[in-house]
Amino acid sequence: MTEGLWITFEGGDGSGKSTQAALLAEWIADRGRAVVRTREPGGSEVGVLVRDIVLHHRGDIAPRAEALLYAADRAHHVATVIRPALERGDVVIQDRYLDSSVAYQGAGRVLDAQQVRDLSLWAADGALPDLTVLLDIDPMLARQRLDADDKPFDRLEAEKADFHARVREAFLALAAAEPQRFLVVDATLDPDDLAVLIRARVAGLL
Ligand code: TYD
Repeated sequence: MTEGLWITFEGGDGSGKSTQAALLAEWIADRGRAVVRTREPGGSEVGVLVRDIVLHHRGDIAPRAEALLYAADRAHHVATVIRPALERGDVVIQDRYLDSSVAYQGAGRVLDAQQVRDLSLWAADGALPDLTVLLDIDPMLARQRLDADDKPFDRLEAEKADFHARVREAFLALAAAEPQRFLVVDATLDPDDLAVLIRARVAGLL
């Protein structure tokens, strides 16, 4: 039986994750593998409801409640979408996973990053991706890209510049701590060149 493969994309808002995830999914599907494209928050029916709360609730959400909401989305997503796909032998290509919780919920400074990670690992029953692609970009540059998009900002995008600088540092620290799982790429590169870099790493895993 073919083994499943699980690849997640991480990075700040406006780093181009979704574009690269879509390009990779297309490339893998062209190689004849079944691909499941998914995301967090919101990769399951329950998750769509949670996504609406965490991104669009007007007013504050207590930091621990926010961390639990992302973890709840993750628990249901892993149990009902990701694990079944991997058991079928599919390739799962996903926007954001628990590294986002550590980087974003930890960057608020209120919550301990290790506790956030432990909470997510418990929610996911220990599941970790085979590869995590980190699209690294200066948040000021990423912000210019988002401004050009003309979409209204969600709750997290609207956070201040120093918050996003901490998110970036947190992602880089996570990548440095697990170099075997992470591929860090410069998100300012041309999208086609980036796609080639990412494929080179994935080819060895397929
Ligand atoms: P995303 O879906 O990438 O936003 P968009 O579709 O608008 O580009 O992510 C939504 C936001 O959720 C993003 O600002 C990061 C945040 N987030 C967390 O704070 N913690 C998490 O665990 C996850 C998965 C996302």
